[in-house]
Amino acid sequence: MLSKYELKLPDTVYGGEDALDKIGRILAANGVKKAAVFADKGVERAGLLDIPLEKIRGAGAEYCVLDDLPPEPSYMEAQKLVDQCKAAKADFIIAAGGGSVMDTAKLASILMTEEYGVKELLDNPARARKCLRTLMIPTTAGTGSEATPNAIVAVPEKQLKVGIVNGDMIADYVILDVAMVKDLPRKIAAATGVDALAHAIECFTSRKANPFSDLYALEALDLILNHIQPACDSPDDIAAKRSVQIASFYAGIAIAASGCTAVHALSYPLGGRYHIPHGVSNAVLLAPVMRFNEPACRDKFAEAYDRCIRGGAVTAEEKSEALIARLEEIVRHLDIPTSLTELGVRSEDLPQLVSGGMEASRLLVNNRREITPADAAEIYRQLL
Ligand SMILES: NC(=O)c1ccc[n+]([C@@H]2O[C@H](COP(=O)([O-])OP(=O)(O)OC[C@H]3O[C@@H](n4cnc5c(N)ncnc54)[C@H](O)[C@@H]3O)[C@@H](O)[C@H]2O)c1
Ligand SMILES: [Fe+2]
Repeated sequence: MLSKYELKLPDTVYGGEDALDKIGRILAANGVKKAAVFADKGVERAGLLDIPLEKIRGAGAEYCVLDDLPPEPSYMEAQKLVDQCKAAKADFIIAAGGGSVMDTAKLASILMTEEYGVKELLDNPARARKCLRTLMIPTTAGTGSEATPNAIVAVPEKQLKVGIVNGDMIADYVILDVAMVKDLPRKIAAATGVDALAHAIECFTSRKANPFSDLYALEALDLILNHIQPACDSPDDIAAKRSVQIASFYAGIAIAASGCTAVHALSYPLGGRYHIPHGVSNAVLLAPVMRFNEPACRDKFAEAYDRCIRGGAVTAEEKSEALIARLEEIVRHLDIPTSLTELGVRSEDLPQLVSGGMEASRLLVNNRREITPADAAEIYRQLL
């Protein structure tokens, strides 16, 4: 547990029923003349831009929609939208989408300059300063990007995903309205929900864990473990969907206060090389990495069990085992693949996966049990 810690949060967060109604007030308070609305085609097809655009028109502001963005964009694809935002001469940024959209919008908010772009931030993320204020409206429940200072981009030449961290990317405003996630297709709800679950348990067991991150990580874990299944299975269980939406925001705050560990580290080459969706690659690795970490995390797992599962286990070892078993059960129940072979990974790719995973030292240093290249290879091998 860290003895010194800090936490930077979004300025204002609106949640609950009809939170989208606050868009007009936010635009008026910031004197917005033209908003750049970041989205993607999937979000648009789902009709999720209709309400935000109506609210912008109602506030008398102009807008442009920037939606030419694939899931899990590369730094070049993100740069393309940053350039479009510059050309549009917008004075405010709204992101309505999942992590891919929000991360790109956050990068744009610190890149309204000709001096450097996304590529340069890969090497020196601290150089940029906030240029435009932002409103994040997540449509997955999920990444928690609305609460974090992180933006993740794919780097094709390294076949990796890389995180850019800069405190100025913390959102100014966040709207958590269940209307944006209530019709998520089950497959997307499952993968993105397990991503949030990974954030919660990784941050809770991180070497950078501290009282601030524990507060949010444990509450997120409790909400997700107890609501993710109905949220994905029952189209009408709005209360469960709202719980996972809030939990993913809390887990994002836990990331901002602490940091993810080896699940995310080993997942980055799977995203970078095989384009496996972020939530799916984390889901595959979640239980195996936690099982590897168990000897170093037993007390934390037992504490999480007492708070979130509250079953009949007595010893720390039983509680810890029950928690890991619950993670496995969730991934299986949600029909997320549990084998890397199913996802196209071949055994001859293992050395490259291992070296890619080991490059994510920003996250590996947070893992309570040290992971050597041989350990990483064994974890990947178990999953083939
Ligand atoms: N910044 C952070 O702190 C952070 C944390 C974790 C992950 N990430 C990054 O976020 C990205 C993944 O984001 P994601 O998991 O939210 O997925 P995503 O944004 O890539 O979206 C996945 C798909 O779901 C569609 N979609 C989104 N919302 C929808 C809705 N409500 N209804 C129907 N379709 C919808 C999108 O159009 C897209 O096709 C990755 O690049 C990952 O590395 C960032
Ligand atoms: Fe994640």
